[in-house]
Amino acid sequence: MIDAALASFCVEREPLAPYTWYRLGGPARVLANATSAEQLAAVLAWAGREGLPVYPLGAGANVLVSDDGVDGVVVRLAGGEFHDVHWLADGAVAGGGVDVGKLALRAVRRGLAGLECMAGIPGTVGGCVRMNAGGRFGEIGDVVRRVWTVDRSGCRREWERRELGFGYRCSALGDHIVERVEFVLTPTDSEALRARYDGIWAAKTSSQPLGTGSAGCVFKNPPGDSAGRLIDRAGCKGLAYGGARVSPVHANFIVASGGAAAADVLRLIAIVRKRVREQCGVELELEVKLWGDDGDVAEVGPLLETGASH
Ligand code: EPU
Repeated sequence: MIDAALASFCVEREPLAPYTWYRLGGPARVLANATSAEQLAAVLAWAGREGLPVYPLGAGANVLVSDDGVDGVVVRLAGGEFHDVHWLADGAVAGGGVDVGKLALRAVRRGLAGLECMAGIPGTVGGCVRMNAGGRFGEIGDVVRRVWTVDRSGCRREWERRELGFGYRCSALGDHIVERVEFVLTPTDSEALRARYDGIWAAKTSSQPLGTGSAGCVFKNPPGDSAGRLIDRAGCKGLAYGGARVSPVHANFIVASGGAAAADVLRLIAIVRKRVREQCGVELELEVKLWGDDGDVAEVGPLLETGASH
């Protein structure tokens, strides 16, 4: 049971589906909507005392929650200082809960270059920095100068760029929750920058099913190749299981329709993985984070195989 202090920003048995881009999944034991560093520290300390796992939730754009939900504390940076942005002559300091797409557009309007590669990538500053989100136009880690975090025991830390260990969809931030980030941006002619932003946005919208029930690319690109190309080559484009379907627009997206369950998406993930393994000899690794009990999608039974359809 949460106490009165936590009850001002925490809810028990809160359904998580509305907080994710998939719109799927069951409830969190506790959902914390923190709007200050004090609230964040208080809920982390409480979760530690109760022995409950903590799940940091950004925009919910890269997560698939199990139909059973999660038996832990889901933490959102829901407002207040976590949504603040301070502009600098050559950059910005943004809270971990700031929407990265909106931040990128504001930077473009100010003639500050560096974040336009994030056009069309949904997520919060914290979530995107932690996983070094990006694509072929660039990665967010390229423009990060400094990060402030709090860990699961409530300890705060400042990270310099050289400590952040950015790689393909990863960083050294691990379990730390991002409170705010300083970006280094380059003052640039704003018309040319706007044209570049619009070009990236157009490339995204023409090749990806943006805005539908999905969590972006499901699998990481294997070294030197594209997961979307491999899934396409393995004949999975349009493949469906229950209410989940491999997008006909981009094969590395699995889209969920209104009646879908998280289990449908999980099963389709397993089927796609198996087909790509058999036909291309490549073991695809998940980019989407799975939360909850259904996390093991390594094996697919014959039943699942026959259940899939084009
Ligand atoms: N392709 C196919 N069939 C498909 C999809 C792609 O043949 O169904 C081919 C394309 O023709 C192209 C190649 O695969 O030759 C690469 O495709 P694309 O340019 O769409 O890029 P990607 O590698 O699939 C990456 C990121 C995206 C990011 C884009 C653009 C990963 C896993 N994906 O996609 O990120 O938006 O570059 O910058 O790194 C995400 O992280 O959720 C995500 C969507």
